Amino acid sequence: MSSRHILSAPAWPYANGPRHIGHVSGFGLPCDMFSRYQRMCGNPVLMVSGTDEHGTPIQVQADAEGLTARELADRYNRVIAEDLAGLDMSYDLFTRTTTRNHYAIAQEIFIGLYRNGYIFPRTALGAVSPSTGRTLPDRYIEGTCPICGYDGARGDQCDNCGNQLDPADLINPRSKINGETPVFVETEQFFLDLPAFADVLGGWLQGKSGQWRPNVLKFALNLLGDLQPRAITRDLDWGVPIPLDGWRDKPDKRIYVWFDAVIGYLSASIEWARRSGDPDAWRAWWQSPDSDAYYFMGKDNIVFHAEIWPAMLLGYNGKGAKDGTPGSLGALNLPAEVVSSEFLTMEGKKFSSSRSVVIYVRDFLARYDVDALRYYVAVAGPESQDTDFTWSEFVRRNNDELVANWGNLVNRSVSFAARNIGQIPAPGELTETDRALLDRSKAAFGTVGDALRRCRFKLASTEAMRTLAEANKYLSDQAPWKLRESDPDRMRTILHVALQLVDDGKTLLTPFLPRSSQKVFEMLGGTGEWSGMPRIEEVTEDGGQPYPVITGDYRTAARWESMPVKPGTPLGVPAPLFAKLDASVVTEELARLEAK
Ligand code: MF3
Ligand code: ZN
Repeated sequence: MSSRHILSAPAWPYANGPRHIGHVSGFGLPCDMFSRYQRMCGNPVLMVSGTDEHGTPIQVQADAEGLTARELADRYNRVIAEDLAGLDMSYDLFTRTTTRNHYAIAQEIFIGLYRNGYIFPRTALGAVSPSTGRTLPDRYIEGTCPICGYDGARGDQCDNCGNQLDPADLINPRSKINGETPVFVETEQFFLDLPAFADVLGGWLQGKSGQWRPNVLKFALNLLGDLQPRAITRDLDWGVPIPLDGWRDKPDKRIYVWFDAVIGYLSASIEWARRSGDPDAWRAWWQSPDSDAYYFMGKDNIVFHAEIWPAMLLGYNGKGAKDGTPGSLGALNLPAEVVSSEFLTMEGKKFSSSRSVVIYVRDFLARYDVDALRYYVAVAGPESQDTDFTWSEFVRRNNDELVANWGNLVNRSVSFAARNIGQIPAPGELTETDRALLDRSKAAFGTVGDALRRCRFKLASTEAMRTLAEANKYLSDQAPWKLRESDPDRMRTILHVALQLVDDGKTLLTPFLPRSSQKVFEMLGGTGEWSGMPRIEEVTEDGGQPYPVITGDYRTAARWESMPVKPGTPLGVPAPLFAKLDASVVTEELARLEAK
């Protein structure tokens, strides 16, 4: 199969606090699994993202912490970059939306849309807090949805019926910050002409049927029924300035955070290209027909990735009802797939930092293996329905599956071979059983790979583990330890087969468990980097303040195929691959939750 350029685009976390495992199970880890798999298939992957640093989520939290928006963004950009690097997320570039490059690209897209007539000014009603006189952001207004009657609707969107809302339409609007009733005043904003894209978006989405997860497609198609022009500027002093004469210098008008954030995928690609020394390198992922862009997120982000971002791209390309010409960057590719996961809850409750129903990434990683979390998310994450994280299930998956199946197979086979032979043995004649098992292991690259390509992580990881369970059973049935005296030749053959199955296993599990796969690679005599790991670099932009980015060189040895192990390779007695967790972990963690 010829190779395709794969743009891996995980959603941009708000820089308003540390990330918890609910966040990263939605946008983060699935995208990394997908990217690692694609790289192993030889496809050039570009995985870019960063912190989302504008808008009211940042301003509100900054007020709460007594900081400026910029100070807050600086603080959490660093915390989040460390969290994500700690999860072994293989970003080619993880940057931020407050770079000069991002401002320039966001403004370029705005201008392109404006020139083609898809952005226009209009007077709208804006909510103001009567007590502070400040603009009240849409997300911080709550009320009854005028469409479905749901009482917890937000000013920007109703999570019950999924419709886009305007805060002025809410019945009984109230501020989520202090409960007061906002007043609405007239103010001029720019609007994105979404109705001008209804036809072309509809046709585009229809063409995705059978490819996208049905819930995502259904949601996106549903939105088309009621497309309204959407305000893409706000009365706010924190954000990207509006790049038009008469507006550029207004201190309290900024581009709406969602409009600038989705452009981040493009601006980060351009920043990556510049840093890599070939400023045009991004074009292979954005303009070539041999390229596919995959966007990963939680379901509350679908509207922005499956409707607004595609509309922005279409408008920039000159492809809506008003036609037009592509902007100065040239025409840009639409998403190939919008991969959305559902929500993760924690012990039956919604994750909530304010109510302390939460486990932050860094606390998790301080106590448990990163691969234990990655495994849990792959096999039991909220892939296609809301899913509950429980500590007892986490301990069970870790002990009964990771340790008892994969860890045990590695440990038993490598330790026994190391102690008794000291190297990978050459096989004698293979039996039917040996051959059948080796064949099934080889075939697993097809089934697991298919599932990964279709972003079916649960299926992929379950299939990989099933193959390894068979290998474990083989080892127990064949019991090479009983043949030491009676049939050392057969013992060596069995061990050769078992080590081949372990080697295949570490390859099959690499997208999910890159760190432990690296260990198995080394146990079996591999040297150097098997699957690339991210690193944090301090960078500056045009001589400004240094900030951390995640980057890495991921062109490493890992290939998505069975590679024959080499007889004669020396083996050492390995340390156990995973830590078994004591049952007391469950009570301790539940007590921590209670205590908060
Ligand atoms: N910051 C948003 C959130 O956490 C996600 C932004 S994704 C982007 O929900 F594409 F807009 F950047
Ligand atoms: Zn509703």
